[in-house]
Amino acid sequence: MTSLPLEDNTNSLPTTNPEPATIVLAGATGALGLLIAHHLLQRGATVRALVRPEASTKAEAESLRLQGATIVKVDYNDKAELTKACTGATCVVSAVSGLREVIVETQTRLLEAAVAAGVPRFIPSDFSADFTKLPEGSNRNFDLRREFMRRLDQAPIQATSILNGMFMELLKGQAPLILSGPRRILYWGDADQPLDFTTMVNTAEFTAAAALDPSTPRYLRVAGEVASIRGLQVAATEAMGKEFRLLRAGSLGFLGTLIKVTQTIAPAKEEVFPPWQGMQYLHNMLSGQAKLATLDNARYPGIRYTQVRELLATK
Ligand SMILES: NC(=O)c1ccc[n+]([C@@H]2O[C@H](COP(=O)([O-])OP(=O)(O)OC[C@H]3O[C@@H](n4cnc5c(N)ncnc54)[C@H](OP(=O)(O)O)[C@@H]3O)[C@@H](O)[C@H]2O)c1
Repeated sequence: MTSLPLEDNTNSLPTTNPEPATIVLAGATGALGLLIAHHLLQRGATVRALVRPEASTKAEAESLRLQGATIVKVDYNDKAELTKACTGATCVVSAVSGLREVIVETQTRLLEAAVAAGVPRFIPSDFSADFTKLPEGSNRNFDLRREFMRRLDQAPIQATSILNGMFMELLKGQAPLILSGPRRILYWGDADQPLDFTTMVNTAEFTAAAALDPSTPRYLRVAGEVASIRGLQVAATEAMGKEFRLLRAGSLGFLGTLIKVTQTIAPAKEEVFPPWQGMQYLHNMLSGQAKLATLDNARYPGIRYTQVRELLATK
């Protein structure tokens, strides 16, 4: 009996799966942070959720634990503790929310810890319209992002900001554009100006994919839908089955004056989103100054982007 030559299997030996990437997530207990954690875990990442001690007993922290994230209690003022929490990660993602103390100072401490721990990549808590092109003073929260951006761009780490326009969900509540009672689309300026909208879920899916992608550029831009005020009118009419009309409240110059008046009579400077801040976002979008120039939607196949009409039709 002739013996068959032994197959050389050295090139086809079953390989053990590489270690899953470890992503450090700050602000994981927040609305966007929870969604990012969920999508990172779905993509097979190991998620290390940084949580302030006072938030470690919150329901959100328990939900993260149940989904498989590791909760790491950290004092953001303790550099050694923060550096240890970042050690071994391939990317630090920040989804914190706040004013100067959080967006500039806390994120700087997190950035320094990421650099000290040798983490190669950092995604800051930007998640907004394109603030990079806006003049100083046109949006208080965007000024803070640019202030942190200047520090980030000096740091020896690969940074990627996710720019997603307005969270689409705001069209159902906080953003006073679609008025379902009087069935009007309220706006200032030009009804044909294109505007960027992305749901929080789509933003989180895209961010999770970007966190696991080692070769991201400095900016990634995504918009679930680009719609003008007239486009919102069509979407609202179709979603509600009732006709919506346009209501032009004035020019962008007039909106600028309204912002100044509101800042004077209701300053609420310690709030992250006082009414005048929301009006600043609207001004930035309606003027086209914060429009996303190009879109990277197709970079991560498999993400299905929710459209405005679909979102408005959901309860
Ligand atoms: N594009 C848009 O339309 C839009 C709309 C809304 C928000 N955003 C942006 O999306 C991002 C996430 O916002 P969100 O709505 O998810 O925020 P959120 O629900 O308020 O959550 C904020 C997170 O930040 C953490 N945090 C707050 N202060 C902190 C501090 N001093 N040190 C450390 N962590 C702190 C909170 O932790 P604790 O649980 O410990 O409090 C929480 O995990 C922000 O960049 C926000 O500006 C964008």
